[in-house]
Amino acid sequence: MEFVFADRMNKFGEGIFTTLANIKKERYKEGKPVYDLSVGTPDFVPDRHVMEALIDAAQYTENYKYAISDSDELIDAVIKWYKRRYMVDLEKDEITSLYGSQEGLSRVALTICNPGDVVLVPNPGYPIFEIGPFLNEAKIEYYELREENNYLIDFASIPEETAKAAKAIIVSYPANPICRTAPKSFYEELIAWAKKYNVVVLHDNAYSELVYDGKEGISFLAVEGAKEVGIEFNSLSKSYNLTGCRISFAVGNKELITQFKKLRSQIDYGIFIPVQKAAIAALTGPQGTVERNRQEYEDRRNALCDGLESIGWKGAASEGTMFVWAPLPEGYTNSEKFVLELIEKTGVFGVPGSVFGSLGEGYIRFALVKTVEEMKEIVASIKESGIVK
Ligand SMILES: Cc1ncc(COP(=O)(O)O)c(C=O)c1O
Repeated sequence: MEFVFADRMNKFGEGIFTTLANIKKERYKEGKPVYDLSVGTPDFVPDRHVMEALIDAAQYTENYKYAISDSDELIDAVIKWYKRRYMVDLEKDEITSLYGSQEGLSRVALTICNPGDVVLVPNPGYPIFEIGPFLNEAKIEYYELREENNYLIDFASIPEETAKAAKAIIVSYPANPICRTAPKSFYEELIAWAKKYNVVVLHDNAYSELVYDGKEGISFLAVEGAKEVGIEFNSLSKSYNLTGCRISFAVGNKELITQFKKLRSQIDYGIFIPVQKAAIAALTGPQGTVERNRQEYEDRRNALCDGLESIGWKGAASEGTMFVWAPLPEGYTNSEKFVLELIEKTGVFGVPGSVFGSLGEGYIRFALVKTVEEMKEIVASIKESGIVK
C-alpha cells in the first residue's frame, strides 16, 4: 500500500537532535569524551517521600482503574501551593491537571482557535509554543525577543493588525532558551495589552522555582487582572524532578479552564492515581529540595558562565531556568556548524540556537545537567581546544 501522509508531517524533519544522538553514540563507541549539555532533563532525583507516596499507591489494584478526573486532594494541594507560593487564590474550577505542560501546550489552542486564527509565539522560543498551535491549525505569528529589549516583548513592535487578529499569545518566563526572567511591570503591560486587543494569554511558568541571584519567581496570576485574560501552566517536572511522571497544571481563568477540561474529557481519562499521589506529596510535603536544587543549578551556572568568561568566551548568561544561553564565540556565526565543531574538538554537546527560531541563530544553549566539578572540566576542555580565540 502507498501511504500518503498529512502535509503537516513535512514540518518535522529528522533534525539536529537525531544528528546529535548519532554522534553521541559514535563517540561512546570510540571511547571519546562526551559532556552532554544538550537535553534539559534534571540529573537530580525526586524526594524519598514523593517516591514513597507513588510506591504505596501503586500497591492497590483499584488505583489502576481510569482516574477520570483530578482527586479533590490533588486540587486542594494545588490551591494551597499557589496560595503559599504566590499568594494567589484559586477556586476548584480554575485548575486542571495535564500530562505535563508539553501535552497541555500541544492542545490548548484547540479550545481557543478555529483553523487559521492567529497565535503569537516567541522567537526565539521553546518549540512546543509554535508546534502546539500549528498542530491545532492556528496561524503562527512571531513576536521578537531581542537582547536590546532585555529579551522582553516590545509590545509597540507588534503590528496593530497582528494584535487585532491575534486570538492568543504564548508567553513564558523564566524563558527557555534565552534564560531571562520578567519583572512584575512586564506582566502589567502584558495584561493591559491583552485586554486592549482581546487576546488570551497562555503563560508557561515551567521554571517558576529556578530563578537566580536572589530574585523570586513570579506567577503571572499574581498580577492584577491576569485571571481575566488567561491561564498559567506550572509543571512539577523541574521543580520536583518528576519529569518522567508527566504531571503539571493549567490554572487561571475559569471559562478557559472549563472549556479545556471539556476538551480533555473527550481525549483522556485522567492522570494515573499513583502519580496524583506523588504530586500531592511533592506539593504539600517538605520543600527543602526545591531550594537545594535551585542553589545547585545556580552554582553550576556560575561555574559555566564565569569559566567561559575567564577563557574569553563572552556573554554566556542565565537569570533562571536550567539552561545557559551563550552567544557564539568570536569568529562563528552559524550555530549548527559551531555545535558540531565544539563536539568534535571537546566532546561538549549543546543545542544550536537556530533550533529555537531565526533569532536564536548565533547562540548556543547549554543545559545545567553536570556538577560544578564537571562544568570546570568542560571549561578546561573548551580552553584547551582553542575554539575560543
Ligand atoms: C519552557 C518549557 N515548557 C514546558 C516544558 C515541558 O514541561 P513538562 O515536563 O511539564 O511537559 C519544558 C521542558 O523542557 C520547557 O522548557
